[in-house]
Amino acid sequence: MKYRVCLQQDVPPGEMRPFTVKNIPLVIVHSTKGVFYAIYRFCPHQHSDLSTGILGGLTQAEEPGAPFAYTRAGEIIRCAWHGFSYDVTSGACLTAPEKLRVKTYPLLVDDGEVFLDLA
Ligand code: FES
Repeated sequence: MKYRVCLQQDVPPGEMRPFTVKNIPLVIVHSTKGVFYAIYRFCPHQHSDLSTGILGGLTQAEEPGAPFAYTRAGEIIRCAWHGFSYDVTSGACLTAPEKLRVKTYPLLVDDGEVFLDLA
């Protein structure tokens, strides 16, 4: 069953917004690649609202000594309280992957509207 979340234009590319749908607190992310993601809104570390964090990317090098590149813009949320980072595409915590993960939810985009797609 699908539940309307917002209009596409409510979340510009490279930004995120908080919504609550079916009593589920969500952060809707619109990546710079134009893909929408939904994750549970509260950080599993100490429950900060992830929509108050920073949406960005990763700075990575192919190998030690190689030049750094900025990648995955608009796919990584950094929590405002203690800086833990979460991959919005999978919910993986990049800071403590063995301990923490945030739930993700499937979305549908149809005719300019974003829907939560729950079974
Ligand atoms: S509450 Fe998010 S990193 Fe601590």
